[in-house]
Amino acid sequence: MNRRNFLKDTAVLTSASLLPASVWSLAKNDRLRTAHIGVGNMGGEDLRDISSHELVDVVALCDVDSNLLAKAHKLHPSAKTFSDYRKMLEELGDGIDAVIVSTPDHTHAPASMKAMEMGKAVYCQKPLTHHVTEARAMRKLAEEKNLVTQMGIQVHSFYDYKLATLLIQSGIIGKVKTVRAWSPKNWGYDGPVPEGSDPVPDTLDWNLWLGTSAQRDYKEKVYHPGNWRKLMDYGCGTLGDMGVHIFDTPYNALALDVPKTIKNKCRKPNGFGFPENNIVTYQFPGTQYTTEKFKWVWYDGEGAPKKHKELRLPDKEALPDQGAMFIGEKGRLLLPHFMQLPKLIVKGKYQNIDAEIAAVEQSSGLGKPIRNYSSEGPKHYHQFVDACLGKDTCSAPFSYASRLTETILLGVIAGRFPNKTLHWDNEKARFAEEEANQFLDAPYRDF
Ligand SMILES: NC(=O)c1ccc[n+]([C@@H]2O[C@H](COP(=O)([O-])OP(=O)(O)OC[C@H]3O[C@@H](n4cnc5c(N)ncnc54)[C@H](O)[C@@H]3O)[C@@H](O)[C@H]2O)c1
Repeated sequence: MNRRNFLKDTAVLTSASLLPASVWSLAKNDRLRTAHIGVGNMGGEDLRDISSHELVDVVALCDVDSNLLAKAHKLHPSAKTFSDYRKMLEELGDGIDAVIVSTPDHTHAPASMKAMEMGKAVYCQKPLTHHVTEARAMRKLAEEKNLVTQMGIQVHSFYDYKLATLLIQSGIIGKVKTVRAWSPKNWGYDGPVPEGSDPVPDTLDWNLWLGTSAQRDYKEKVYHPGNWRKLMDYGCGTLGDMGVHIFDTPYNALALDVPKTIKNKCRKPNGFGFPENNIVTYQFPGTQYTTEKFKWVWYDGEGAPKKHKELRLPDKEALPDQGAMFIGEKGRLLLPHFMQLPKLIVKGKYQNIDAEIAAVEQSSGLGKPIRNYSSEGPKHYHQFVDACLGKDTCSAPFSYASRLTETILLGVIAGRFPNKTLHWDNEKARFAEEEANQFLDAPYRDF
């Protein structure tokens, strides 16, 4: 059936214009043909969880590292393999329905935009993009083309995060004044600008790895694989890494939009690696779930978070390694990251909230917790696949993910101006401080 006939036939059943564009092409066999860009490390997990859906056919695998590509190919021998995502998309064209982007952050937007321009549904890892302008462009294109999209924040679909959202929205701590969130994670290369260069391994296409980013010499153990995340040209630091997961629940629960002001307390920038310790304070306009003024504070780096009375737990208990504390008018809600129940603290004591949880479980259809990563993990991916097949809706589409990512990236940019308050104009998508606007974007290299 060609596309024109399909549209004609489905018009009898439904208004085709209401269907996401990426659903149109699935008429043939009700199965989803996926192409995966970046199949090592997290890309390997993405491939496993997407392909665990019974209606998925993995038709293409792309990676700039031939060793990692070969490993994935062993699991999906019928998929075609590529090192350049542009060639993959051009060659396979209509043979692909959905694209999964699991590369380092700087390649998220260039690869996703190309796929979306071709009308493909896209599942893209977090943070959605490396630059603010890219996040806005991704959102616009997904909307214009009416595409199914999902950002890779799989814990968004986990029980405890959904529960915390529902509890906060039910008013368990009243209106929320502040959220404090933290992660001491410190992975990736964190040293000085490396001197000299190393020969590029035969198994790596370094030019394709760099993609649209500026030309740079290869150095072992600095960039690929997995070492790039604390380097400004490729990653977004710990805030753009763990912060996306940990900020997701407060962002969603409190129905936040982008902030008005941002300040990052950190060391002076060195133009290469992100500061090792950041305390980022955001002020947001109030929402129906917050007080008129709402503040969000992020702590990362060794020893994070700094001691604060709002983070004190009953009986001098230690804070979980990573998490978020909601501070409301009637108490505090602690949400450890992750797969642990949120805890209510009122007047310095934990409160029993079994009844509140039971009520929320019943009224929302949330069900009971399954604290098993292998069974919870795939849900977010399967939701995307089902949405592509017209059977579900994505909970972290680019319309949501782009605003969350923009917020995160504004804090990353504030790290270029230590201790200075930056003022963000949502309408104009510009800072009042002209010197900060140069970091909203970066030129793309032809590669
Ligand atoms: N959602 C999560 O829980 C989670 C966890 C870890 C990482 N991530 C995200 O996943 C992404 C990848 O992180 P990682 O730790 O796996 O990084 P990595 O560097 O270890 O792996 C990236 C993979 O992409 C490949 N690659 C790089 N550039 C490519 C290109 N241009 N075309 C095709 N393949 C390319 C690499 O060879 C490698 O296989 C990041 O955006 C990261 O933030 C998400």
